[in-house]
Amino acid sequence: MSVAPLSSSPAFLNTGLPLFSDLAYKVRDLSADTVRFGRKELDLALVEMPGLASLREEFGASKPLSGAKIMGSLHMTIQTAALIETLVELGADVRWVSCNIFSTQDHAAAATVVGPKGTVEAPAGVPVYAWKGETLEEYWWCTLQALIWPDGSGPNLILDDGGDATLLVHLGYELERDGLMPDPSKAGSHEESIILSLLREIRQVRGDRFWHAMAPHIRGVSEETTTGVHRLYERQQKGTLLFPAINVNDSVTKSKFDNVYGCRHSLVDAIMRATDTLISGKRALICGFGDVGKGSVDSLRGQYARVAVTEIDPICALQACMMGLDVVRLDDVVGNVDIFVTATGNRDIIKAEHMLRMKHNAIVCNIGHFDNEIDIAGLDALRATGAVEKIEIKPQVHEWRFRDTTHGPKGGGHSIIILAEGRLVNLGCATGHPSLVMSASFTNQTIAQIELHKAAESYGDNMLARPSGTAPQVVTLPKHLDEKVARLHLEKFGAELTVLSKDQADYIGVPVQGPFKAEHYRY
Ligand SMILES: NC(=O)c1ccc[n+]([C@@H]2O[C@H](COP(=O)([O-])OP(=O)(O)OC[C@H]3O[C@@H](n4cnc5c(N)ncnc54)[C@H](O)[C@@H]3O)[C@@H](O)[C@H]2O)c1
Repeated sequence: MSVAPLSSSPAFLNTGLPLFSDLAYKVRDLSADTVRFGRKELDLALVEMPGLASLREEFGASKPLSGAKIMGSLHMTIQTAALIETLVELGADVRWVSCNIFSTQDHAAAATVVGPKGTVEAPAGVPVYAWKGETLEEYWWCTLQALIWPDGSGPNLILDDGGDATLLVHLGYELERDGLMPDPSKAGSHEESIILSLLREIRQVRGDRFWHAMAPHIRGVSEETTTGVHRLYERQQKGTLLFPAINVNDSVTKSKFDNVYGCRHSLVDAIMRATDTLISGKRALICGFGDVGKGSVDSLRGQYARVAVTEIDPICALQACMMGLDVVRLDDVVGNVDIFVTATGNRDIIKAEHMLRMKHNAIVCNIGHFDNEIDIAGLDALRATGAVEKIEIKPQVHEWRFRDTTHGPKGGGHSIIILAEGRLVNLGCATGHPSLVMSASFTNQTIAQIELHKAAESYGDNMLARPSGTAPQVVTLPKHLDEKVARLHLEKFGAELTVLSKDQADYIGVPVQGPFKAEHYRY
């Protein structure tokens, strides 16, 4: 592949940005103050990220990621900046985008572009294409830029959160293979029409071998979140996965920490930053009592909200009962709740018809990965008829005022407050999880990238590079590495582990040094 020069590349949709740009990075603000702020916060974060610091110590000299070309698509926060600089210190060549239009911290993006040794005049960090408040068109443009290296080549590894980078490569390749021109008019959603427009414009400019040239070089992907992992297993089952994947989410030290304890911190952080409303005593409803739902319940209960949940799974529902929570149906309580939070990873949880019945000024937000848990499209359709008005209070906080309802002030229309336009609220309205939690997640990510770079093919072949090879698998990291990640974070808490005697170890049937649990143990 080669990159078309800036001038000859048409602008992508309404972005005003050349489809194939030669921009070395694109962030909101590279001023000295912003870069300094980012670097100071990065320095503070690193002290709280002992797992990453320890990997830098262990592997900084041997550089196990030399030769790795990693395209990352994961919220461009301060903690992610620490991950990126760890990957670089271990030898990788990295390019980055955010995986959500609202989640970038602009000072983190700026500090990452400049790098620890660069200056504003001569940035020497990593090419980042991300800013807070991208349009969807800009978001997908950014994803494309991060996939293309200045020499025209692509990545050999992807680090994904939610699977958007993986999706673009797979979809691009499949449409080329099937000889189909990407057709935005066939899209099922606004976002899908943008993805298809991007693929169509690439086809028009670069012909039908663009993804065929890139995809065979991608040896594997490590995936951060539940929703992205779900997409990968679906592809594995259908036999359409092109390269192996490490499921980072299901490391115990990721999903049982980040998803639970991270959300415990960051959900109320987001609601408070967005609204300053009192949470204590209010009725809150969390839809979904999985890992994120459990952390979200803890978060709101920590403020003494009166919390109920909805669930489809009897085991999770029973867990909620044992926590003293009411398990209810949304339809039965919708008019009586002050704060709604979706945490299901599923679609169509809160529909426009529910929002029509909500209390005046009820707060509605989503902490799941994608924005289809809350029916913003349905609200937009009502807006087109004039039945509801959207009023910006501040970025990522909107009042939706209904015209025709009668349970608002003085018997008029009621309003609801939607946070982060239905996108994941803890990154849209706050700054995501705290560093220590993210250290565990990103230590797993770094170990996964090292493993893929060392031996991706032991988890299956790239189906394009070796069509007769072994089908690519989705795997989790072995338990001894999960325990290692936990161990690296204990000192920070001053925790002292008890050491097994040989007799004790033999009695419970584990090695003195671990692993201490069987694979089927659920924590
Ligand atoms: N915002 C964040 O910081 C963050 C962090 C981690 C994961 N996530 C995302 O949050 C979402 C949830 O992740 P998780 O790890 O908790 O997944 P999970 O599978 O553990 O939990 C989801 C729960 O929702 C329930 N559910 C599904 N459909 C439902 C419905 N219609 N009504 C009620 N309940 C329903 C499921 O039974 C399950 O218990 C995913 O999209 C994930 O990617 C977000």
